[in-house]
Amino acid sequence: MLRTHNCNELRKEHIGTAVTLAGWVNRRRDHGGLIFIDLRDRAGIVQTVFNPETSPDALKNAEEMRTEFVVRISGEVNLRPAGTENPHLATGDIEVIVKEAEILNTSRTPPFYINEEVEIEENLRLKYRYLDLRRPRMKENILLRHRVVKFMRDFLDARGFVDVETPILIKSTPEGARDYLVPSRVHPGEFYALPQSPQQIKQLLMVGGLEKYYQMARCFRDEDTRADRQPEHTQLDVEMSFVEQEDILRLMEELYTSLVTTITPQKRVVKPFPRFTYRDIMERYASDKPDLRYALEIADLTDIAGQTEFTIFTDAITGGGRVKGLAAPGCGNYTRHQLDELNRLVLDSGAKGLLTVSLGHPGGTLDELAIDDVKSVAAKYLTLDQIQEMAQLCRADKGDLLLIVAGQENEIYPALDVLRREIACRLKLADPDTFAFAFVVDFPMFTRSEETGKWEAIHHPFTHPRPEDIPLLDTSPGDVIGQNYDIICNGYELASGSIRIHNADLQRKIFKLMGYQDEEIENLFGHMLEAFDYGAPPHGGIAPGIDRTVMLLAGEDTIREVIAFPKTQSAMDLTFGAPSPVTEEQLKELHIDLREE
Ligand code: AMO
Repeated sequence: MLRTHNCNELRKEHIGTAVTLAGWVNRRRDHGGLIFIDLRDRAGIVQTVFNPETSPDALKNAEEMRTEFVVRISGEVNLRPAGTENPHLATGDIEVIVKEAEILNTSRTPPFYINEEVEIEENLRLKYRYLDLRRPRMKENILLRHRVVKFMRDFLDARGFVDVETPILIKSTPEGARDYLVPSRVHPGEFYALPQSPQQIKQLLMVGGLEKYYQMARCFRDEDTRADRQPEHTQLDVEMSFVEQEDILRLMEELYTSLVTTITPQKRVVKPFPRFTYRDIMERYASDKPDLRYALEIADLTDIAGQTEFTIFTDAITGGGRVKGLAAPGCGNYTRHQLDELNRLVLDSGAKGLLTVSLGHPGGTLDELAIDDVKSVAAKYLTLDQIQEMAQLCRADKGDLLLIVAGQENEIYPALDVLRREIACRLKLADPDTFAFAFVVDFPMFTRSEETGKWEAIHHPFTHPRPEDIPLLDTSPGDVIGQNYDIICNGYELASGSIRIHNADLQRKIFKLMGYQDEEIENLFGHMLEAFDYGAPPHGGIAPGIDRTVMLLAGEDTIREVIAFPKTQSAMDLTFGAPSPVTEEQLKELHIDLREE
């Protein structure tokens, strides 16, 4: 080894010890002859001192050293002179008096500060990610990710799960997102697809008798990148045989609670995880992944709104829509500008508009509200009783602001969700030290595509319907509830899973219902159907997203902060400059002719 210790391990008890350290120059200070270099390695920072009297040669080298140079020093650990201790540094009581020093490599001036926590443009960070990784924030996140993954592996290993690697070059099958395709050189005109997830493969592992499988699985989806979405992401992919939904939920609750208490013991996690049906959670929060650290529940105001003279309400209801709203506590004094901002959010989310009703000043009860206290463009169409009833349904107090949206459910839910998040953000209602996990169960199996009119699987087509709903497959597929479940936490979907179909006839029936022809079914899914004919056990599984899990544990807002080399919003890898053109020769080998666009 080029060193005897790491920079962070030296303490008072090492005083007098001869040490050799290697790392980067974090900071260099020249105090007229005496040079101080803060040496940094992965573990931390230690102060080293170059003295012209005790080691003039080392000092000469130190004069050459600049920030981010890679250096190696040998010296002795000393107590820092009284009054110069640094309580912010783990090694702040000591310093290393350098006897010998060597520059192992030089460095150009970095494009951004590595030794200071300052805001840096993200694209610059991504282009020089290898430098960004040296900064404390990224380093901590990557180390945290390692601990999370290790914890999960150990947890599952202790419970008899087997880690199986599955192929990355597979067959393209419709699973929800667009596939990344890989052309075959050996089979002209044919393509592999990168797995959107190892869904079918893990099911085949169950047919193969593995019983309990897990994998840190890389998944590839050609979909628009967002704060919590990347073209490639990692799942803790899990599948089990001979289980029911309850077994998987219990396993996951134990995994996540023990993960949080071990990795971030300062955070709070509420156990048992509350459970919601899909229907219930949509009614109460207008989202299937609401942040449950705060209440701000959505109230259904349709009945009372239908009795008013306000035509926006009554027209929406006549058209089959609903009127729903929530109370923004203490926001009754919002300015025109603040109300306009909320209205803009609602319009941007696709709803037709926002009705605000200001409930006057705080103090007193709702009964004491007078019509003159109320401010709203609809005030003249509403009676005081109607306003009070709406306020009550929204659990509002005097001084609050009612936010009301009318229209079809699919229009108003995104708007209500955005409003709920916005108000919580403005009022800082979400406790950053709490993880509010919950299970969402009983999702409908199918939704009808507006474009094609075909039934589409809400989770994926391998989900087992509730046994009692199987007859509905023939009569009203839209009412069939699946045995699938999500784990949500603090406003994110963390995991999805389901009990799977293991019977070829039922699986074929589902594909047919989704509009696949016999030939397509054989072509796309024949391997699964055939496997089910050879004694497939009942099985089910789940896949928590690793990136999102680590993002939450790290307290970050995007998964890019917890991925060593993420893609940009436009799916670019800025470090390598990918995607990039390839040579004519490569294309020729792959039998590809590029068309001029
Ligand atoms: P699903 O598609 O819901 O299910 O994905 C499971 C979990 O993976 C994470 N995730 C993502 N993370 C980052 N970027 C993405 N583009 C992305 N897409 C998904 C989320 C999500 O909850 N095969 C099924 C699982 C199963 O049924 O066992 C599947 O992939 O955290």
